[in-house]
Amino acid sequence: MPTRLSRSPRASAPTRSLRTQHFLSVVDLTPSELGDVLTTAAMLKKERRARVAGRPGASALQGQHVALLFEKPSLRTRCTFEIAIRELGGDVITPSQDVAMGEREPIADVARNLERWVSGVVIRTFEQDRLVQFAAAAPSLHVINALSDEEHPCQALADLLTLQEHLGDLRGRTVAFVGDGNNVATSLAQGALMLGMHVHLATPDGYEFRPDIEAQLTAGARLGATLTTFRHARDAVRGVAAVYTDAWTSMGREAEAQQRRKVFAPYQVNEALMAAAGDAVFMHCLPAHRGEEATDEVMDGPASIIFDQAENRLHAQKGLLMLLMGGRQ
Ligand code: CP
Ligand code: NVA
Repeated sequence: MPTRLSRSPRASAPTRSLRTQHFLSVVDLTPSELGDVLTTAAMLKKERRARVAGRPGASALQGQHVALLFEKPSLRTRCTFEIAIRELGGDVITPSQDVAMGEREPIADVARNLERWVSGVVIRTFEQDRLVQFAAAAPSLHVINALSDEEHPCQALADLLTLQEHLGDLRGRTVAFVGDGNNVATSLAQGALMLGMHVHLATPDGYEFRPDIEAQLTAGARLGATLTTFRHARDAVRGVAAVYTDAWTSMGREAEAQQRRKVFAPYQVNEALMAAAGDAVFMHCLPAHRGEEATDEVMDGPASIIFDQAENRLHAQKGLLMLLMGGRQ
């Protein structure tokens, strides 16, 4: 086992570390830890905006390197992790894709090499199992899921922070996800249900959550939160606090794009659907395919909080990094 790099203690509150070594899924956190990450993120956001001198997080990752390994394209996740790590006093390395994730040598060997040089690895990949393999091979690393086919937990942190900013206490409120029951929908539902928020999911036949995922989501619900599935988008959005959609075709499924455009057409979020929702905010993780899953009028309309979500990727990931990696020796 390599010697861990020494870390400077955090300058001030918050001081609680997470029990988990890795962040591969929202459910790696307890509901209370999820709340701590969001509180820390909100504090770091406030202090960044106020340009507070000697910010509490500024040396949280001092002396630590974090590797970014991305097998799929990214704007938001890559930029915000790079900035987050640097603002917390750490340093970033970005090994090229052709050497990073098991093409040139087994994934476990990549992990065991990196373990000798860096403290954390942020990975965007295909199957979630690749993240699990990576983490198992190098248990002293902190592995963070920057999107897999199945989950996008860092997006969910930013989404929940954004919802809290716009709605206040999330308990008893409802978010409707309209479209594909995909990675973004899964992570959002995990986090929302953990915080006591009801989740509506409207999908075409065959694009719902898998039964095992649905069972896990229901088991993780707290404070009376419920998950309800719908076939029609209009039924799902009536009276909710937030309407969320994502691309109909996720990265890696491009061959299905034409077929999906037909199947998902009735699930477009347009002004008529937002009117059916009433007084709801509109959310999208981005990138969007304008004119497909959402119209320009909705994306750029008064209810849209999509760029708040994008901004909050930075603050949410800083909160996560600080509590995951900032206080451990
Ligand atoms: N929302 C999101 O993860 O964006 P990127 O794919 O650009 O990172
Ligand atoms: N569901 C999308 C999210 C992109 C941020 C995808 O996986 O491509």
